[in-house]
Amino acid sequence: RRLAVFCSGGGSNFRALFHAIEERSLPAEIVLCISNRSACGAMEFAREKGIEAVHLSEKQFNEPGDFAGAMLDTLEEHHIEFILLAGYMRKIPAEMVKRYSGKILNIHPALLPKFGGEGMYGTHVHEAVIAAGESRSGATVHFVDEEYDRGAILLQRSVPVETDDTPQSLAARVLECEHRLYPDALEKLLALPCP
Ligand code: GRF
Repeated sequence: RRLAVFCSGGGSNFRALFHAIEERSLPAEIVLCISNRSACGAMEFAREKGIEAVHLSEKQFNEPGDFAGAMLDTLEEHHIEFILLAGYMRKIPAEMVKRYSGKILNIHPALLPKFGGEGMYGTHVHEAVIAAGESRSGATVHFVDEEYDRGAILLQRSVPVETDDTPQSLAARVLECEHRLYPDALEKLLALPCP
């Protein structure tokens, strides 16, 4: 099964997925990495592994439709079956959500449906969890629909929030959880009956 990852940053989730596919001999291959930042860690990792690394950003296009078109063309050219958002910080064009409905996953560093939605990313999520006095947090892998962080949940896992946690210490514990959760979610996705 041919996968694309979408990244904007260091790509630690991308790396975790890449290594899990190898270590667990999953019936999938990451053949494409798309990023809105050409020099980010994820794109460096893709190049290092000989994975097609394509820089696509709205800023390169005059019309939003052209950006969506270029993204869809790139996915078609690479015969992509599933798209995994992994630290991707831009909205997915509606045309793409429609064309790949049920085929796009995202990982969110909190226990959705709580602490999701626009603006809930990076340390903002963990600040909100701590401010709310939560005893547990965690990560969620969900299908992507038109709204941020609102699609059906595929797999979720929780971690404790410690009384002396800072947003940074909680972020680190959640990120470690993500690196185990995303490969488990991919395994579950690949085992689902083909629609
Ligand atoms: C992290 O905040 C992670 O929780 C979220 O995206 C950000 C970067 O992840 N999923 P990565 O290291 O680029 O995978």
